[in-house]
Amino acid sequence: MFKHLLVPVDGSEHAARAVDVAGDLARHYGAKVTLLHVLTRAGGYQVPSELMAFEKIEHLRVTEHDIIEGAGQEILAKAEQRARDRGASDCATLLESGDPAGHIVRAAKSRGADLIVMGRRGLGDIGGLLLGSVTHKVSQAVDCCCLTVK
Ligand SMILES: Nc1ncnc2c1ncn2[C@@H]1O[C@H](COP(=O)(O)OP(=O)(O)OP(=O)(O)O)[C@@H](O)[C@H]1O
Ligand SMILES: [Mg+2]
Repeated sequence: MFKHLLVPVDGSEHAARAVDVAGDLARHYGAKVTLLHVLTRAGGYQVPSELMAFEKIEHLRVTEHDIIEGAGQEILAKAEQRARDRGASDCATLLESGDPAGHIVRAAKSRGADLIVMGRRGLGDIGGLLLGSVTHKVSQAVDCCCLTVK
């Protein structure tokens, strides 16, 4: 039924659970998985240790953009490994920068995804709210199916 799953990840536990579900579905349907991370200034990025070590050894100045981009790549690499561990064999990653909901909606359309699998909440995780703002916007704006994972 589903051929192409778009899985937006923000590095949260919620998104990691969405990756598990997406990996399982991909194996079941033989579907392709595209993992998408959108860089934002609000994402609580952790600088990858390799990057910090590299800066020290090479005496290089690493810009804030390099650090954030490295952290975004790391989020994607971990998510891809997790999806593959669940049995998704056809995985691609996509790194964008800007408004997460806008990029998710555009990527779903331009890449022809027929299912979006995302966390119900994300890094914000303010108690009491059922749905994060990115999930809320995406589920209202997309034409394809959208599965939110608790
Ligand atoms: N920057 C991002 N890049 C890719 N996917 C994202 C990004 N931010 C959120 N998502 C996706 O949306 C899901 C819900 O996150 P969302 O940001 O809506 O909730 P929140 O962080 O708890 O609340 P809010 O951001 O509104 O304070 C995440 O599990 C992830 O799948
Ligand atoms: Mg958020």
